[in-house]
Amino acid sequence: MRFFEKVDRMIEQTKKDGIVSAREDQQCDASTDLIAISVSEAGQWSVWAERAGLVTQLQGLFAAGHVRGVRGKSTLLYGFDGLPGQRLLVLGAGDPDTLSVRESGALARTLAEQALELGASRIACCLHGDPATLARHLQMAAYTPEGKTQNPAPTLLQAEFLCCDAPAAVAQGAAAGVGVNTTRRLADLPANRCTPRYLAEQAQALADSHPLIRCEVLDREAMAQLGMHSLLSVAQGSAEPPALIVLQYRAGAPDSAPTAIVGKGVTFDTGGISIKPSAAMDEMKYDMGGAAAGLGVVAALAARAQPLPINLVVVLPCVENMPSSTATRPGDVVTSLSGLTIEVLNTDAEGRLILCDALTYCARFQPAQVIDLATLTGACVGALGHHRSGVFGNDDDLVNALLAAGDASDDRAWRLPMDDDYDQELDSRFADIANIASVRWGGASHAACFLSRFCKDYRWAHLDIAGTAWQGGKNKGASGRPVPLLLHYLDQLAANHGAGDAS
Ligand code: BES
Ligand code: MN
Ligand code: ZN
Repeated sequence: MRFFEKVDRMIEQTKKDGIVSAREDQQCDASTDLIAISVSEAGQWSVWAERAGLVTQLQGLFAAGHVRGVRGKSTLLYGFDGLPGQRLLVLGAGDPDTLSVRESGALARTLAEQALELGASRIACCLHGDPATLARHLQMAAYTPEGKTQNPAPTLLQAEFLCCDAPAAVAQGAAAGVGVNTTRRLADLPANRCTPRYLAEQAQALADSHPLIRCEVLDREAMAQLGMHSLLSVAQGSAEPPALIVLQYRAGAPDSAPTAIVGKGVTFDTGGISIKPSAAMDEMKYDMGGAAAGLGVVAALAARAQPLPINLVVVLPCVENMPSSTATRPGDVVTSLSGLTIEVLNTDAEGRLILCDALTYCARFQPAQVIDLATLTGACVGALGHHRSGVFGNDDDLVNALLAAGDASDDRAWRLPMDDDYDQELDSRFADIANIASVRWGGASHAACFLSRFCKDYRWAHLDIAGTAWQGGKNKGASGRPVPLLLHYLDQLAANHGAGDAS
């Protein structure tokens, strides 16, 4: 009990977020522990050096070979009277003109790593590179998973951009970082903390915090009344009650059709009666990564200084998939909200069973487009590994816009096929559709084809984030993907029209 109170207090803490700020002059906050600047391979210093009157001295050090501008390298210089700690961290920027979004992110991560290693948690910086990306990555360095009461990893507490000529971009990047961290925090929380009910409370709290956000939560009875028996068939084996979370962000014109985001929220996926092997099963706490990303997008919008002029509906089907005497059996036939009957041949293919009802539910908002996010298939990880998310869809423009948004935000995706050949392999003798294919290979496409049967009435794309939502190994943890991709997509949407027809 006491442990959880402590964790909850820490959650409050991370909600404050907003560690990034920007100012036009070269002066840093009194609490700063470290100033960081960058230098190109050719010896061009970021503007702070000139404004602080140090460029001659620094050029001397550069000419003598004490500092180099190679990307990925950093040098700590001492003996600067008047600077915090009398020192200056210099990061190599390579050729600043070719500093991509990806490399800007790497530069910010190097800075955060070096600063924390030096015991500096309050930094000021003036760097080459894309300001929004730098800000997003510095904000991300403010995150560490909760739960450790002893020796938690240090995090950045403050990051000031000095001599900043793009304060709006910095603010927007920082808001994106807040959204990414919201997603990581929720996804990293263990399944005994992060239940469907907990996600619903977090969504409600988000709505309470912002005038443009509204939240509604449908409970088991409400869903049964509507006829969401496919979703409920996944929840019925668990003592944790399901929740269908509906968040609305309305900053667009009242009559403009919303974009809908649907996120898979399986707070733990044991596989159900088709139970999974126990190796690495703990990672199935991440099976709500789609729902966490949906909440992260809304958290990022809430953190923006200016509203983004769009209408957004976020629908999050949240359940726990457990084996028990009340669980769905392989072979059971259920009727989905759409009326289509489904033969559940494998209870571990549960994501599509909750998503199909949420996708059908979405139609009532008459969305301009629907994007679902799901840690849906191991097969997608087999195809793309951990670098790119899989994208599917019934509309080329929408798919291409998402691919472009992924490239632009360094949160990449790759299109995978959805031909009829895959679709036919979902045929069932006992229902309108089976929840797994009759053949072994091509599982990511089968899952997408399953979903597409419920998305006939609108433009739809599906992001399979099974390989990208978290990373395993020593630095195990949620990545916050695909929040950057989605925010970039929504920014473009607003820039093009402020309505829903602009992808
Ligand atoms: N949540 C899993 C997919 C998954 C597995 C994501 C491993 C990340 C890592 C999903 O519910 C699942 O179990 N899918 C099955 C589908 C199969 C039974 C057709 C899979 O991919 O094995
Ligand atoms: Mn499963
Ligand atoms: Zn799953």
